[in-house]
Amino acid sequence: MSESIYSNVITDRTWDMDRGTKANHTPQHKGSDSVQIRSFRTAAVCLLLLCVLLLTAVIVLCVYIHTKNTTCTEETHKLLTKINNLTEQSDLLLTKNINMTNERNGLVINNDILTKERDQFNRERNNLQKIINETDSWVHPTISLYFMSSTKKSWAESRRDCTERGADLIIINNREEQDFVTNITDKGEFWIGVTDAEEEGRWKWVDGTNMTSGFWASSGHIREPNGGGQENCAVTYLKKNPELIGWLDVDCNGAYQWICEKRSRA
Ligand SMILES: *[C@@H]1O[C@H](CO)[C@@H](O)[C@H](O)[C@H]1NC(C)=O
Ligand SMILES: *[C@@H]1O[C@H](CO)[C@@H](O)[C@H](O)[C@H]1NC(C)=O
Ligand SMILES: *[C@@H]1O[C@H](CO)[C@@H](O)[C@H](O)[C@H]1NC(C)=O
Ligand SMILES: *[C@@H]1O[C@H](CO)[C@@H](O)[C@H](O)[C@H]1NC(C)=O
Ligand SMILES: *[C@@H]1O[C@H](CO)[C@@H](O)[C@H](O)[C@H]1NC(C)=O
Repeated sequence: MSESIYSNVITDRTWDMDRGTKANHTPQHKGSDSVQIRSFRTAAVCLLLLCVLLLTAVIVLCVYIHTKNTTCTEETHKLLTKINNLTEQSDLLLTKNINMTNERNGLVINNDILTKERDQFNRERNNLQKIINETDSWVHPTISLYFMSSTKKSWAESRRDCTERGADLIIINNREEQDFVTNITDKGEFWIGVTDAEEEGRWKWVDGTNMTSGFWASSGHIREPNGGGQENCAVTYLKKNPELIGWLDVDCNGAYQWICEKRSRA
């Protein structure tokens, strides 16, 4: 106890001595003791400081470790989540890939079917086009309606009757039409729409065109037309026995049945 008090005094003196103010008043016989005590004291203080430091270090370390640990846990958790996410996404991508592969296969199959259907369609279209082309090549769609009179009139009156019906006397354009007329007339004579009244020998149809090829009757010694200036109109004629088929030139004022033809574009 006394030593402690003394130590205090010494400390004071040391302090003084260090400052160089009371160095001469320090008793000389106490010298070695004070040095020893000072060393202890320094060691103790150092120890204490070390302890504090260690404690601080421990605390800091603890806090650090704790924080680190928490961070670690969090980061591990995050990482795990990320890995999970990645796994999920990978699975999703895999599924998608499978789906897309399936879809692609489906599309390939669909494409094959579509190609086949397109080819079939093209073939059918070509066939139709051919039919249309062929139809176009042999049908020039003019439809004619024919009217056959049961009464008999002169050529001019017969023609007027036809025009009143919105038609005109028949114009026979080809062998087929002539055959048709022959078929429907059966027997008798019918006015047709041709005359050479304007200029003898130049037969003109009622539409103003020149007659180029007529179906004049000819049998044995008969060669139509043979009436000259007296016979400027024509009838189509059918006699079965002896057979005489075709046109005859006759007097325009004669009374015959007639055939009207009404043409219309289909
Ligand atoms: C994991 O995915 C979910 C939704 O799918 C998302 O909300 C989350 O942010 C993702 N996490 C990471 C770490 O990518
Ligand atoms: C894959 O296809 C199935 C059924 O075809 C569907 O249920 C699923 O949602 C699809 N998945 C993806 C990722 O498109
Ligand atoms: C039909 O006629 C048109 C032109 O008139 C031609 O381009 C086409 O090739 C023809 N089609 C067929 C199938 O003959
Ligand atoms: C005329 O009648 C015959 C026999 O009935 C027939 O074969 C022919 O096709 C007919 N011609 C016309 C143009 O109507
Ligand atoms: C009809 O024939 C006459 C005499 O042959 C000719 O002068 C006239 O030009 C011809 N008309 C037509 C439309 O061809």
